[in-house]
Amino acid sequence: MAAAARRQSYWNATAPASGFPSFTGDLEVDVAIIGGGIVGVTTASQLKERGLSFALLEARRVGEEVTGKSTAKVTSQHNIKYTTIERKFGEESARHYADANETGLRTVVDLAGRLGIDCSLERRPAFTYTKEEHHVAEIEKEVELARRLGLPASLTRDTGLPFDVLAAMRWDDQAQFHPTRYVKGLAATLPGNGGYVFEGSRVIDWGKDRAATDAGSVRAKHVVMATHLPLGQTGLFYAENHPHMHPVIMGQADPARVPAGMHISVETPHHSLRGHRDENGRSWMIFTGPTFKHGHVDQERQAFAQIERFAAEHFGVTAEYRWTNEDYTPMDHAPFVGWSSGGAGACLVATGFDAWGLSMGTAAGILLADIIADRANPWLDLFDARRIKPIAGAKDFLKANAEVAADLVGGYLSRKPHGFDDLRPGEGAVLKVDGHNVAGYRDEGGALHAVSAVCTHMGCIVGWNETDRTWDCPCHGSRFGLDGAVIHGPAVKPLAPHVSKKDQASRSA
Ligand SMILES: Cc1cc2nc3c(=O)[nH]c(=O)nc-3n(C[C@H](O)[C@H](O)[C@H](O)COP(=O)(O)OP(=O)(O)OC[C@H]3O[C@@H](n4cnc5c(N)ncnc54)[C@H](O)[C@@H]3O)c2cc1C
Ligand code: FES
Repeated sequence: MAAAARRQSYWNATAPASGFPSFTGDLEVDVAIIGGGIVGVTTASQLKERGLSFALLEARRVGEEVTGKSTAKVTSQHNIKYTTIERKFGEESARHYADANETGLRTVVDLAGRLGIDCSLERRPAFTYTKEEHHVAEIEKEVELARRLGLPASLTRDTGLPFDVLAAMRWDDQAQFHPTRYVKGLAATLPGNGGYVFEGSRVIDWGKDRAATDAGSVRAKHVVMATHLPLGQTGLFYAENHPHMHPVIMGQADPARVPAGMHISVETPHHSLRGHRDENGRSWMIFTGPTFKHGHVDQERQAFAQIERFAAEHFGVTAEYRWTNEDYTPMDHAPFVGWSSGGAGACLVATGFDAWGLSMGTAAGILLADIIADRANPWLDLFDARRIKPIAGAKDFLKANAEVAADLVGGYLSRKPHGFDDLRPGEGAVLKVDGHNVAGYRDEGGALHAVSAVCTHMGCIVGWNETDRTWDCPCHGSRFGLDGAVIHGPAVKPLAPHVSKKDQASRSA
């Protein structure tokens, strides 16, 4: 690891502050939107175009969570996705997936241009490549299907990468952008004429017609939960989506070594990469690599080492920014968009993007606005969030959950501190204290920060994320800060403060 690497998303570090007010009081609108990532902000923009009023409540800052930590390719090419969708749902559904994502891509390009959003948007070809013989046929099949669906796909071995590949598919006219600037830029066009955007406003209670923070309540005809994974127990989506975590690095690059396209490998460990030119004309490259389990420090270190080796060896890039990011794989591989359930308390949701949620998240915003405006949309046939298809996918899905359970028993760190006194500065670990699981972190100044390690969603034990310095839950992907505050759901309540027996005794004395 480069000594000076910053523990932050490059995109968030280089976006202007958004500065929306926090919510207080009471408000009545057509639609309450919980969450200001690409899904929530696009939904709001679509509702505005349809003349509906809305209040968007963002817990932290718009665009800075999963969206602002992505590699930010806006594509209808999603690795080997179409063959999977066609196998599980049929060719007509693959056509809907293609249409949704091409529409999502076109919408991003159109909005950025029409609204003058300064987000480094560039049209680029996207490539999925393989260096392994047994994946060649998969690429050929994906291209054949994509062409049948009318997508701009072709077979090639000419990728612009500094190594030979056995096969690759090239999709023309795809796009890349600065995700945080795009979302913040779009959000800036929303207030006024019945549109409200609030930041620092975490929703802690909700129903089909209300969303409440600890400072007030929004009443609405519809509630959209655009929180990446729906909150709490909503629709039980945490049981139908498997979380995965990835290392992301970004560093300056020799412009002559930056490929013109955006690239991802079929084989695991996945390598995904692309270039970026900043406003001062400097060239950068961003990379993401192998998946690792939430809170599993040894796996996290290996994942970073792997992607950092790849970036240095092939592109001469050293990490200047390092961060982690997560997404969810739905058990049948299609995102869930629409009503959370058939019941009376249903809200609208969008989740399960499988690390392809920028074009798809934009399409989700269009679909959600269509549902609210009572407009027919054929994509719903595939994405309907109430579908129950526990057919294919269930076996792998259950295996992944069983591995999580085994890890919870086995622990995460190879070096196990004996107690908090044994924690080195910058180190975090979960330890048993007075019979309780406690998450402790020793900061660089030597002070200990300790909170309960019991996730407030459903009671799993969180683990340490060394890069971002957060407590991450391996069960359904909730993330918490050092003080226990929620960063990512489905949890909505913070980790409880840890009060040692000694403190308890001195308080009651
Ligand atoms: C390593 C990695 C790389 C990726 N790269 C790409 C890529 O190149 N192309 C692509 O298409 N996709 C990519 N993705 C996937 C994509 O980033 C996501 O699918 C997409 O950004 C999800 O958007 P979202 O709006 O659902 O979530 P988010 O952007 O996380 O937005 C949800 C918002 O809800 C807020 N929120 C949560 N709880 C509450 C609450 N209780 N009250 C109020 N607000 C709340 C959060 O603070 C957050 O801002 C990548 C994913 C990963 C992990
Ligand atoms: S996220 Fe569900 S138990 Fe932690």
